Amino acid sequence: MSDVDGQQVAVVTGAGSGIGRATALRLLEGGFRVVVADVNEANAAETAELAAAPDRVVVRATDVRSEEAVAGALDFAVETFGALTCVVNNAGVGGAFGPIHTIESGDWDYTFEVLVRGVFYGIKHAARIMLAQGAGGSIVNVASVAGLGGGLGPVPYSAAKAAVVNLTRSVSIELAPERIRVNAVCPGAISTPLVHRGRPERVDDKLAATQPWPGHGRADHIASAIAFLAGPDAEFVTGEALVVDGGLTAAGPGRAFAERLNNDPGLRGMSGVNYGSTGVASVVRHRAGE
Ligand SMILES: NC(=O)c1ccc[n+]([C@@H]2O[C@H](COP(=O)([O-])OP(=O)(O)OC[C@H]3O[C@@H](n4cnc5c(N)ncnc54)[C@H](O)[C@@H]3O)[C@@H](O)[C@H]2O)c1
Repeated sequence: MSDVDGQQVAVVTGAGSGIGRATALRLLEGGFRVVVADVNEANAAETAELAAAPDRVVVRATDVRSEEAVAGALDFAVETFGALTCVVNNAGVGGAFGPIHTIESGDWDYTFEVLVRGVFYGIKHAARIMLAQGAGGSIVNVASVAGLGGGLGPVPYSAAKAAVVNLTRSVSIELAPERIRVNAVCPGAISTPLVHRGRPERVDDKLAATQPWPGHGRADHIASAIAFLAGPDAEFVTGEALVVDGGLTAAGPGRAFAERLNNDPGLRGMSGVNYGSTGVASVVRHRAGE
């Protein structure tokens, strides 16, 4: 199980903005007590102000690059709410970008400090506390579709997110016997301040066109998936990297091809079967009225 004396208590890193904020608010709606942990204290405070349940939310200034800070935020959850049952390792940045031969070591290290080391600290100290509690728990790491293949993010970001996916899968094996579940979510293109930089109207249409599902990805799409993984409905789910991308990776490079086929005037209104190189002639049927 993942509650201690019926309490559901979560720490959400990077909860001052975007996906983290939506997740904190979603977990609060679901009855969780939540520590909003972010390096940006003003934004974290704003998240807490948006909460409909002010008695169940606290803010904690946390830089996930610091082990002391992450351990402190998770201990703070126990001190404040009496338990820790869920940690969402969500804090993130775009990090280093540019052609590989121009990327500086310090920028590479910064990217991995936030995106990978921060997640390691979150898992390490969640495990320390949850093992001592002896009541299981849920850890959710926010990775990315960029961690599943090339070309969907800057190179250092993609490498870091791939590390998060495999870190998740590896450590889930170790913690499963203790009923501590470890999962990742892999969001697609989501309209958050990380992407729109305060001007969603400039990017939302472009984002909407990146995947088959109509409309752009929203932070609450990801928050819903995280809330599922956080809670008891996901009791048998661990070691999973749940893709939430409106069909972006399902379509892959085939999307442009499928669109071309769908729009090909020569093929419109036709069905049939192509027997390939078997020597059997293909059958083409014209659909009436098309
Ligand atoms: N937006 C997308 O399209 C998208 C897609 C895939 C994955 N993600 C991932 O989702 C997560 C959330 O991103 P978002 O889109 O909501 O971005 P966002 O910029 O809106 O929010 C990220 C939050 O993380 C915080 N943060 C950054 N560095 C931190 C640190 N060192 N310590 C503590 N907090 C820190 C920021 O202050 C901010 O509040 C990230 O891990 C990101 O990589 C986003």
